[in-house]
Amino acid sequence: MGKATAVANPNIAFIKYWGKADEALNLPANPSLSMNLAALTTATTVEFRPGLPNDVVAIDNQPATGQALARVEAHLDRVRAWARIGDRAWVVSSNDFPAGTGLASSASAFAALSLAATRAAGLILDEAVLSRLARLGSGSACRSVSAGFAVWEGDADETSFARQVAPPAHWDLCDAIAIVEHRHKEVGSHDGHALARTSPFYAARLAAVPELLAAVRVGIQERNLAAMGPAVEADALAMHGVMMTSRPPLLYWRPATVAVLQAVRTWREEGLSIYFTMDAGPNVHCLCRAADAAEVEKRLRNLPGVQNVLVSGPGSGVRLVDYHLF
Ligand code: DP6
Repeated sequence: MGKATAVANPNIAFIKYWGKADEALNLPANPSLSMNLAALTTATTVEFRPGLPNDVVAIDNQPATGQALARVEAHLDRVRAWARIGDRAWVVSSNDFPAGTGLASSASAFAALSLAATRAAGLILDEAVLSRLARLGSGSACRSVSAGFAVWEGDADETSFARQVAPPAHWDLCDAIAIVEHRHKEVGSHDGHALARTSPFYAARLAAVPELLAAVRVGIQERNLAAMGPAVEADALAMHGVMMTSRPPLLYWRPATVAVLQAVRTWREEGLSIYFTMDAGPNVHCLCRAADAAEVEKRLRNLPGVQNVLVSGPGSGVRLVDYHLF
């Protein structure tokens, strides 16, 4: 038995995972593609302790309860079953994202938990299997396992995991995240997926994904933001169209969200290479060249309603930072 600490970055999807083909296995309705965010990290330590009556989990110095605790316990159960052990675990996880930015991420959380827990249980998994395990905890977590840019494809439990498309050093693309709201979102992505299929636009979005995904792949390969930006924006808007037309509808946008989206379009018309995307929340991710990042950050900070801006380049994959076997 052992103790291990792993670090992971959350990721921003350029083609979104929204809707599941299998709820229990987190098999997505469509392939997705993302970039890890170097500037944001989750660090998680797991120690399996003989005699501990139940799993003890702390997230950002608070004891985990309710659904958050249940999801971690279910993931630890998967690791225990794979490793054929019964011991309960002591888990401490912390995020370095500025408090209350609404960026708390299940992707970095389950990527770090998967690596720390498997190593603490004595298992050494290759990247594909680790990505598959992370997917079972949270779908988007499978994309945080590989470094840089990753695509998540495959439609069966054994084949559904993320693979690297390009390493972080391939392209210094920047994500300037405009934080327009600090409160916690009403319906998180985990619960929102089930609503996707109630939208009349659901099938239309899924039908559009292959062409958009192909454009994003080319953009990354050629380091060409203009080649992929329109596809990134189209899929973000399509996903929010599905969200807004679900029953009940999910409306994450705030006035400041729209202000940022419109500013991005104006700046682009003026010659700046910048494109937006969004997750299940009101904050706007602005993709730009590294050379323009300081200018983009300055402009975003000057927009009314923008409370903070975080800038990140492409991040590493999940990594082990500390490890002891007892
Ligand atoms: C909008 O990975 O959080 O961020 O598999 O239920 O844990 P679960 O969902 P989750 O969904 C992420 C949705 C998204 C888009 C994306 O990251 O692709």
